[in-house]
Amino acid sequence: MDTEQIRSRLKACGQDHILEACEKLDPARRSALLEQASRLPLDSLRELIDSFVLKGAADEPCTAISPAVVTMPDAALAAELTARGEQVIRDGRVAAFTVAGGQGTRLGWGGPKGTYPATPVSGKPLFRVFAEQIEAASIAWDTPIRWYIMTSEANDSATRSFFADNNWFGLPRTQVMLFPQGMMPCFDRGNGNVLLEAPDRIAMSPDGHGGSIAALHASGALEEMSVLGIDTISYFQVDNPLSSVIDPLFIGLHSDPDRSSGEMSSKMVPKRESAEKVGVFCRVGERTQVIEYSDMPESLMTEVDDDGRLRYDAGNIAIHLLGVEFANRVFEENELPWHRALKKVPCFDLETQSQTTPEFPNGVKLERFIFDALSLVSRPAILEVDRSMEFAPIKNATGQDSPESCRQAQNDLYGDWLASRGVDVTRDGNGHVLADIEISPLSAMTSEQLQPEDLPAAVGSDDRILI
Ligand code: UTP
Repeated sequence: MDTEQIRSRLKACGQDHILEACEKLDPARRSALLEQASRLPLDSLRELIDSFVLKGAADEPCTAISPAVVTMPDAALAAELTARGEQVIRDGRVAAFTVAGGQGTRLGWGGPKGTYPATPVSGKPLFRVFAEQIEAASIAWDTPIRWYIMTSEANDSATRSFFADNNWFGLPRTQVMLFPQGMMPCFDRGNGNVLLEAPDRIAMSPDGHGGSIAALHASGALEEMSVLGIDTISYFQVDNPLSSVIDPLFIGLHSDPDRSSGEMSSKMVPKRESAEKVGVFCRVGERTQVIEYSDMPESLMTEVDDDGRLRYDAGNIAIHLLGVEFANRVFEENELPWHRALKKVPCFDLETQSQTTPEFPNGVKLERFIFDALSLVSRPAILEVDRSMEFAPIKNATGQDSPESCRQAQNDLYGDWLASRGVDVTRDGNGHVLADIEISPLSAMTSEQLQPEDLPAAVGSDDRILI
């Protein structure tokens, strides 16, 4: 696109202020700004601004809604599905996929979130936690499991350096592929204009975890998977060290044609309480979808069944399996909706020619969410799992879903493992384990795999146990 074309397309979508900004710049900075502008989604920008920035997506009324169908396998079914899943893994058909492009603003950690020290005794960073699981799974099922990691423009180079500095956590370099996700401009919430973060630079932010579909495609990862015979993507977030990165039972369920169309499957945990701020899997008409807590009418959120259990309690923990074919289809159909988030966006004010740091949300960021792909699935499988075994995210600096709550969850889980093997474990009055306990997946992926010689005689209050 030449300069004149960029100019006329910016005008056509009402972004004349970028041209005004250009007037004040020297030729080199002007062409840098125009080059950045040319990479905006100019074809759809006007429509995005009108439909999502200025008024927000039309709220779909919550009609024809019922609880999602959830699978809770008994022991016999679990064994059957696990055997099926193990065969799929052994056949080299599964890849691990971490989404790590988020900004992690709530935690406030200086680097990429995957570099955060997350384990109770040795302080292993989140990336190492997953790398060890991938190595253990590769050994257990005798196949090198490919690991794809989505970064963002903001943290890509820091993430690559971290992997290089840590010698790729002992994984063969060729087993790991990193790629950045797409970016979207930030908008002025008042007039919908694209915001500038500097006189010669547009303010941009990552396009949400739903951007992973386009990024998997753009990076060549989807194509590579097809070449390698990988048909299943095990998707998890970077902030949950309890994610079971390669879970044979879940994979078995997803690949059982009697129970799933093999397009997309998800894990859920029962909500802690009706007000817990997680999205909920629901049926809407013929389709399954996640309704965000903020969109769920109070009456549905608190509705209970005859046993007193919340009717809508299938909490989304952001662990999914995606078929490679399905991911290609979602990319081609390009139908994931945009969600609007009001944020404080530091920006450059053209009128005053000065930098502003807003006290209140002045901007709109647009993001896509991966769970919206569920509504494109004909028969998704939703698997109920135990929160204490699979979900302890690090989101906030303190309180719920913080490093402290995650540490306690790990201590409680591994305390349970040791207790199940006959070790006496000291707990407080609420049943929480008092010691710090850490078990590497390279030592044991399940409590049954713990070697007798690794078991401590007992676990006291101040012990630090590393297995
Ligand atoms: P969160 O929704 O918790 O967002 O992301 P965040 O950016 O990490 O943290 P806050 O909200 O700024 O505090 C959930 C998961 O999705 C990934 C994150 O890296 C995390 O693994 N994610 C989120 C992306 O990969 N890209 C995005 O654009 C957004």
